[in-house]
Amino acid sequence: MKGSDVSVCGICKSFADFDVLNNINLDIKKGEFFSLLGPSGCGKTTLLRIIAGFESPDEGSILLNGTDVVGLPPNHRQVNTVFQNYALFPHLSVYENVAFPLRLQRAPKSEIEKKVLEYLRLVQLEAHASKMPNQLSGGQKQRVAIARALIKEPCVLLLDEPLSALDAKLRQHMLIELDQIHDKIGITFIYVTHDQQEALSVSDRIAVMNQGNVLQVGSPHEIYESPATDFVARFIGDTNLFDGDVVSVVPLPKDPPEFMVELDIPDLGRIKVTTVDTVKTGQKVSFTIRPEKVVIAQERPKSNRDDINIFQGFNEEPIYSGFQTKYYVRVKNSLGVMSAQMIRVVKQHAVYSDEGPEIDWKDNVYVSWIANDGYIVEIKDEAGK
Ligand SMILES: Nc1ncnc2c1ncn2[C@@H]1O[C@H](COP(=O)(O)OP(=O)(O)OP(=O)(O)O)[C@@H](O)[C@H]1O
Ligand SMILES: [Mg+2]
Repeated sequence: MKGSDVSVCGICKSFADFDVLNNINLDIKKGEFFSLLGPSGCGKTTLLRIIAGFESPDEGSILLNGTDVVGLPPNHRQVNTVFQNYALFPHLSVYENVAFPLRLQRAPKSEIEKKVLEYLRLVQLEAHASKMPNQLSGGQKQRVAIARALIKEPCVLLLDEPLSALDAKLRQHMLIELDQIHDKIGITFIYVTHDQQEALSVSDRIAVMNQGNVLQVGSPHEIYESPATDFVARFIGDTNLFDGDVVSVVPLPKDPPEFMVELDIPDLGRIKVTTVDTVKTGQKVSFTIRPEKVVIAQERPKSNRDDINIFQGFNEEPIYSGFQTKYYVRVKNSLGVMSAQMIRVVKQHAVYSDEGPEIDWKDNVYVSWIANDGYIVEIKDEAGK
């Protein structure tokens, strides 16, 4: 049987007086590539160490295929870990590093030979078997660590920022390799990272954490397109966030139900946004629109659609970065007052398009987006919290 379901049930942990994990609940499915994503210090490593058995929780349980393993030492759980710093034995060759867990088990010589070659092949290191760790590149060292962690064929592989010591290009390459290894062996991967691009590109699902709490669990698409909180919206990619009040709510003829909501955003004016959440007139909400969903042009959009938000403004700060340009636009609200907060816009450079004249520094521009591309991310209480 390959892979394991992993259930994290009500895990709490504090160090001295400091609460590091507050009632964490996760259901990770057999064979999933599941990522824990969050800023430094939010508790990712602590949670991974609790799953691995290097740390015990104050409360809660860890179920592997339905069996509680809290209390079992790490070597009695069918879980193995790859650490950020590789932790290779410097005095052992690549071959012996990978063979080490089987030698500890006193596995027969023929089995060791067969398995080591199989796993060296998996990580594409057959040709380097006799090298010592100090003769390897960073990416090769990391691959030795992965082969060593996999050789006992665990049901779950825990990876704690395994690529963070590598340079950006190698990280991309290793990420693709990791994904391929996961697809080949089909066991459960729990991958810790604070890099949202990494998590978005390889995960089946992601849990976004902050300050010891899980804020949202979902597919990369769900997390990016419909962030559950302000924090998730900000943490996952660049975004525009505004606070506003609900002015009107009109049901749309959709199944499941959807609403066209009008918001009053003090800094911008009235905008329209669609939502599946139930909101009421007068409620305070946060609204987000991704920079790549905003269209910037020097002409006012000609469309007659009534679900487009259009603002006139001034382009304050274009930032050219090769494949795209980022614009910061200060818009005029309905009273003609310039907004304090700027709208960030990202425009990809397409070769085959009639894009009109290039938008230059301080140009008078129009920014627009359709109601369906914005999101209400957080419904606040009366006090606006
Ligand atoms: N053994 C310990 N004793 C006391 N405090 C600890 C211990 N281990 C972790 N902490 C604290 O718990 C919090 C969470 O740490 P953790 O290592 O889990 O964060 P992380 O999300 O992995 O961060 P990073 O991305 O920087 O690796 C931190 O504030 C850290 O200082
Ligand atoms: Mg960590």
